[in-house]
Amino acid sequence: MSSSTGTSAVPRHIAIIMDGNGRWARRRFMPRVAGHRKGVEAVRAVVKRCAERGVGYLTLFAFSSENWRRPAEEVNFLMQLFVRALEDEVVRLHENGIRLRVVGDLGRFEPRLVELIRNAEALTEGNTGLNLTIAANYGGRWDILQAVERMLKAHPERRDGFTEQELAPHLSMAYAPEPDLFIRTGGEQRISNFLLWQLAYTELYFTDSLWPEFNGAAIDEAIKSYQQRERRFGRTSEQVQSAAAAGQHA
Ligand code: IPE
Ligand code: IPE
Ligand code: MG
Repeated sequence: MSSSTGTSAVPRHIAIIMDGNGRWARRRFMPRVAGHRKGVEAVRAVVKRCAERGVGYLTLFAFSSENWRRPAEEVNFLMQLFVRALEDEVVRLHENGIRLRVVGDLGRFEPRLVELIRNAEALTEGNTGLNLTIAANYGGRWDILQAVERMLKAHPERRDGFTEQELAPHLSMAYAPEPDLFIRTGGEQRISNFLLWQLAYTELYFTDSLWPEFNGAAIDEAIKSYQQRERRFGRTSEQVQSAAAAGQHA
C-alpha cells in the first residue's frame, strides 16, 4: 500500500521524544529519577506494541546532547539506568527478533556502557523483526555535521555541487527510512535537536501524556491520528488522491 496517503498504512518508522519523566515523578512527590525508572516500563510496552503492529523502525530519544547540562546526579542515574536496561533487556529483545542499534556520539560514555552497546548491536545484528534505535548523546545538528564531514572525506576532490542524495547516506540513521510519524509526550511542542534532517516531512503528533504513563493503547491512538492525515509532499490534494486511486488499480 502506498504510504503517501496515510489511510490504513501503519507507519514504517516512528520516532519518539520520551518526555515528562521528571514531572510524572514530581506530581507523585517522588524524586525525578523515579520517573526515569518508570519510563523504562513504558519503553517495554511501546516496543512490544510497535512490534505487534508491524512497525518496521522505532527510534527513541533517550538522552540528548544537551542533557549533559542536567545535575550530575541525574546524568549519572540515567547512565546507570541505560547500563541496567541493556543488561536486563537485550536477551529478551533478541528472543523477539528485535534488532537494536544506538545512534549518537558515544565518545562521552564510559567504556562499560559502550561495550554493552556494541555487544547488544552485534548480538541482534541478524534479527529481522522490529528495528529499535536508541538515540543517546544524540543531537540533530551533530548528526548533520558528522554527515557533512564524512561526505567531504568521501569526495576529497570535490568543492561544491553536492546533492541531498549524497549527504543522506552519511547520516547516522541511513539504514532507516525517514520517520513517518513523530511523537512527543509531555506536552511540549518542540523538536529539541532530535532528527532535524530526517523530520523534514514527518507527521508530528504531540500529546500531554507524560512518558511513564504512555503505553500500547497510546501508540494505537497516535497511529490512528497518523492514518487520518493526508501526506502531500508538496503536491495538491487532488494529485495525491488520483495517484492513490491509480495505485489501487495497479
Ligand atoms: C525525559 O523526561 C527523559 C530525559 C530527557 C532523559 P524529562 O526528564 O525531561 O522529564 P520532564 O520534562 O522534566 O518532566
Ligand atoms: C528531550 O527532552 C530529550 C529527550 C527526551 C531525551 P528534554 O526534556 O531534554 O527537552 P527540552 O530541553 O525540555 O526541550
Ligand atoms: Mg523534559
